[in-house]
Amino acid sequence: MGWAANLGNKNNKVEVENKNMTSQSGRHFLQIPGPTNVPDRVLRAMAKPTIDHRGPEFAKLTYEILEGLKRVLRTSGTVIIYPSSGTGAWEAALVNTLSPGDKVLMFETGYFATLWRNMAVKLGLDVDFIPGDWRHGVDPAVIEEKLSEDRNHKIKSVTVVHNETSTGVTSRVAEVRKAIDHAHHPALLMVDTISSLASIDFKHDEWGVDVTIGCSQKGLMLPPGLGLNAISDKALETSKSSRFSKSYWDWEAMIKDNQSGFFPYTPSTNLLYGLRESLHMLFEEGLENVFARHHRLGEATRRAVRAWGLEILCLNPEEYSNSLTAALMPNGYNADDLRELILKKMNMSLGTSLGKLKGKIFRIGHLGDFNELMLAGTLSGIEMGLALAKVPFSKGGVAEALDYLSARQLTTYPGS
Ligand SMILES: Cc1ncc(COP(=O)(O)O)c(C=O)c1O
Repeated sequence: MGWAANLGNKNNKVEVENKNMTSQSGRHFLQIPGPTNVPDRVLRAMAKPTIDHRGPEFAKLTYEILEGLKRVLRTSGTVIIYPSSGTGAWEAALVNTLSPGDKVLMFETGYFATLWRNMAVKLGLDVDFIPGDWRHGVDPAVIEEKLSEDRNHKIKSVTVVHNETSTGVTSRVAEVRKAIDHAHHPALLMVDTISSLASIDFKHDEWGVDVTIGCSQKGLMLPPGLGLNAISDKALETSKSSRFSKSYWDWEAMIKDNQSGFFPYTPSTNLLYGLRESLHMLFEEGLENVFARHHRLGEATRRAVRAWGLEILCLNPEEYSNSLTAALMPNGYNADDLRELILKKMNMSLGTSLGKLKGKIFRIGHLGDFNELMLAGTLSGIEMGLALAKVPFSKGGVAEALDYLSARQLTTYPGS
């Protein structure tokens, strides 16, 4: 037994589990909606010697990845990368553009929108949090109404989570922009694309987004550890009058050093190697093909869920997420028990239920480095799990998904 076996809790739970554990052959299926499966190409790219982050080779890497990220974010503006999780990139967006006491409009689309709101409150912002049922995206009409009423322009920012990872519901960012424009309001638009970037179409410049927040461990197919901000000229200008104290998250220092290819502190060198490789992979496939693949796999999943007789949490088909699908359990059945059984028996991780959905839903991640056969395996594991857990359901979800997929052109691979 390894040294780690004794590191369990007071009941020595780890030790007991290790004794009973039999080796599981084959690959683990990581079907949570992020972190996602890291492709071998990216893993190999990261397995290189770390270089001097103040040397000329590093500067070339910085320029290349910043240009690549601009292509993914569809922006010609400023992009910066923090050695951080997505939460750090959220904080950077708020503290660089706003000042203590500023009013911000936020929407309760789910667990992550609520966490972002909690952060804003802790920072001392005055948050107008529009309640939601966790089954719909942001309503652009409410934004227009709220902003039209705000004649003195007290609201400084509208913040939206593009893809709510806790629910599998997207918000229509282009329509949110139109609502802000209709109200002739100067508020900044900030969008969290943490689980949509490089999976669901997003256009920072065309949609008039002022700050886009992203991170590495979802559509970019990397391990966790990089946080991103894309910044419009308007947001950059606004940042000059921001009165929040900041140091690590300060855009100014980052932008200044990035100009010569460097960072104000030690960057995550090997994750950046991985990012360069994942950007190459995305461009080789073509972004449009990447989005089409996510749509096809998302639609096949939704057909499977419906065929099982389970309800999709997202109520508006226009707001379906192509990154993940959340399925509701029948009354009296706990989603976390099903997930636990699927993990034990099938070696597959599905996304847990979060916040007020605890126990009620399971989430199927279908984003990142993912294809038809991986989806077929994922759905088969769920169908077997539902049967083993004696959840009332109809067989045939997998068959429904396969029929849909085989009637369509398979994933476009480079050179095909
Ligand atoms: C939509 C969304 N926003 C923010 C976060 C927080 O990111 P992190 O856990 O990397 O800090 C997550 C994490 O899954 C997320 O899905």
